[in-house]
Amino acid sequence: MKRILITGALGQIGSELTMKLRDIYGTDHVIATDIKKNDSEAAQSGPFEIVDVTDLKSMVEIAKKYKVDTVMHLAALLSATAEAKPVFAWNLNMGGLMNALETAREVNAQFFTPSSIGAFGPTTPKDDTPQDTIMRPTTMYGVNKVAGELLSDYYFHKFGVDTRGLRFPGLISYVALPGGGTTDYAVEIYYEAVKNGKYTSYIDKGTYMDMMYMPDALNAIIELMEADGSKLMHRNSFNVSSMSFDPEEIAASIRKYIPGFKIAYKVDPARQKIADSWPNSIDSTAAKEEWGFKFDYDLDKMTKDMLDKLQRKLHMKISS
Ligand code: SER
Repeated sequence: MKRILITGALGQIGSELTMKLRDIYGTDHVIATDIKKNDSEAAQSGPFEIVDVTDLKSMVEIAKKYKVDTVMHLAALLSATAEAKPVFAWNLNMGGLMNALETAREVNAQFFTPSSIGAFGPTTPKDDTPQDTIMRPTTMYGVNKVAGELLSDYYFHKFGVDTRGLRFPGLISYVALPGGGTTDYAVEIYYEAVKNGKYTSYIDKGTYMDMMYMPDALNAIIELMEADGSKLMHRNSFNVSSMSFDPEEIAASIRKYIPGFKIAYKVDPARQKIADSWPNSIDSTAAKEEWGFKFDYDLDKMTKDMLDKLQRKLHMKISS
């Protein structure tokens, strides 16, 4: 049975991944860590340790204390925050990744870290972006992600660490809010739809980005980590996406359930610039062929589930 250490376990992905892994592998087999503790289920339901990812010594100590055989490194700044604080982003995103890889090497653990559609840039083919293509991102986040992919591959080739990664699109969920990402509008819009029946988007109409519903993202992580390593031609990292839409299309999907829903625009130039540098839609063929990537949720199925779950979470009923 696996023993998994997760960094950034109380973040957007970690909050749900921790619980899902505890269901599969057993509560005591999943060690959640983050820079501070809160009262969330992930923090309270099983082993939890404070870990600052810029502190290698404490990460290795915790990994040894719990005899972990898998490290999942999620702690990182998202694109808009990284762009606002580039030096801090470099230190946290790259320093944290280096320490997490070193920890995995030290305790001989399998390793996962997410990359992103942010690893692509304006010179990348925008439609059906291939697995192997031009990667010249113009954001600090993208620079971190490309460097991170290369560093993860390096640890595999140089030290034999079983590193694996996914280039995630915008992830949408109702459990923990993302913070400081460019794709966050696609989460906020559902909260505002339930609360107020309208949303003002900071991303302009006609801006297409890849997205995925969190349950599909969690399954993808688990499937990739369970996959036969000898079949993986790529490791760091695989394109994965299950939908691509612009703000008008997500608004139209919400209108199927809330006919009076209204969208307006007040474009944020900083986040729009980041979005404009990313692909419209990426091609997940390599992930499908090499380890069987699949997904359950398209836009409308996700919209229905998000609106149902948020009504329960916010104790509000939408009037249609
Ligand atoms: N959701 C991320 C962001 O917007 C993309 O990887 O920063």
